Amino acid sequence: MKIAIGSDHAGFKLKEAIKKAFPDVEFVDVGASSEESTDYPDHIGALSRLVRQGGVERGIGICGTGIGASITANKFDGIRAALCLNVFMAEMSRRHNDANVLILGARVTGEQEAVAITRTWMETPFEGGRHQRRLDKITEIECGG
Ligand code: RB5
Repeated sequence: MKIAIGSDHAGFKLKEAIKKAFPDVEFVDVGASSEESTDYPDHIGALSRLVRQGGVERGIGICGTGIGASITANKFDGIRAALCLNVFMAEMSRRHNDANVLILGARVTGEQEAVAITRTWMETPFEGGRHQRRLDKITEIECGG
């Protein structure tokens, strides 16, 4: 799987840990490249564009709380970004919401838990059916409906 990954300074260390934990995944890293202060919309915007354009299958965005990253990613049509604080949320974000961007909060979720969340999110399929109907309604809203 090809995944775009990005963070601000607060998420930098966790971003590096996630890349290291999944050596078989092809990550496209859109920064940040250090813990020097940076603005999350720059990096989360970049990864959201990559997902929307189809250059990667999915994205992972990280900031301090995950809130700013979520707000940013969900501004993009076609992006379904899910801030996941535990493995259950990660599973449901895939099964019911077909989340194509996983958001983590580096200041609220420890590294071990974040790796478990990411693994579940990467491995869990979308259920489709009635959930697809609901996603179609979100798409209608994106189109001004
Ligand atoms: C950066 O200090 C912090 O505001 C950012 O990482 C994030 O938590 C915003 O939602």
